[in-house]
Amino acid sequence: MAQPVRIAPSILSADFSKLGAEIEAIEAAGADWIHVDVMDGHFVPNITIGPQVVKALRPHAKKPLDVHLMISPVDPYLDAFAEAGADGLTVHPEAGPHVHRTLQHIRKLGKKAGVVLNPGTPVDALDNLMDLVDLILVMSVNPGFGGQSFIESQLKKIEAARKRIDATGRDIALEVDGGITPQTAKRAIAAGATVLVAGTAVFQGGPSQYAANIQALRG
Ligand code: DX5
Ligand code: ZN
Repeated sequence: MAQPVRIAPSILSADFSKLGAEIEAIEAAGADWIHVDVMDGHFVPNITIGPQVVKALRPHAKKPLDVHLMISPVDPYLDAFAEAGADGLTVHPEAGPHVHRTLQHIRKLGKKAGVVLNPGTPVDALDNLMDLVDLILVMSVNPGFGGQSFIESQLKKIEAARKRIDATGRDIALEVDGGITPQTAKRAIAAGATVLVAGTAVFQGGPSQYAANIQALRG
């Protein structure tokens, strides 16, 4: 049965001088989740925000905070992001020596556990993790920056992840992140995605456009 697609605007493309107001504006415009890109300048070539900022933003958001951790090592920071008010924590298998243990720990913290596959990471990386994940994120750009172009080859990976999810019979979210536009959104949804992350496509044009931008991604 087709699930309604959820839109998760990435605040990486928001105005950083007023992030609280930006979150309120995208929620009023129909955002389903708030996607928070955490970067450390080491795992990815960019630096963004840490747990203190997530904590400061928490009261501004009614919707789930979907926190994408692009930091290595990731394990020492899981508790801090959980305490800051993240609803889901998504980790890259390359960001620590024991991704299975990392996912177990996220579950133990009472948070939704997500695993994310870089464009160069094979879908087989999911094989022994399916019983531990609430969310699978397929990167359709190399992580680090907003505004990059969708990498076509990832559509096959979305399809393969869809099959693996359906085989479990569980309700695991299939999220796609990077280069999402109204055009690529359609293709990602057709391949089986249920959550679309979008930065540029949501925030372009400023607050008066947010509702129309989000609606245009729903397919
Ligand atoms: C990239 C981030 C994405 C990014 C998406 O490392 O994970 O969430 O902000 O931005 P757009 O939608 O502009 O490709
Ligand atoms: Zn992201």
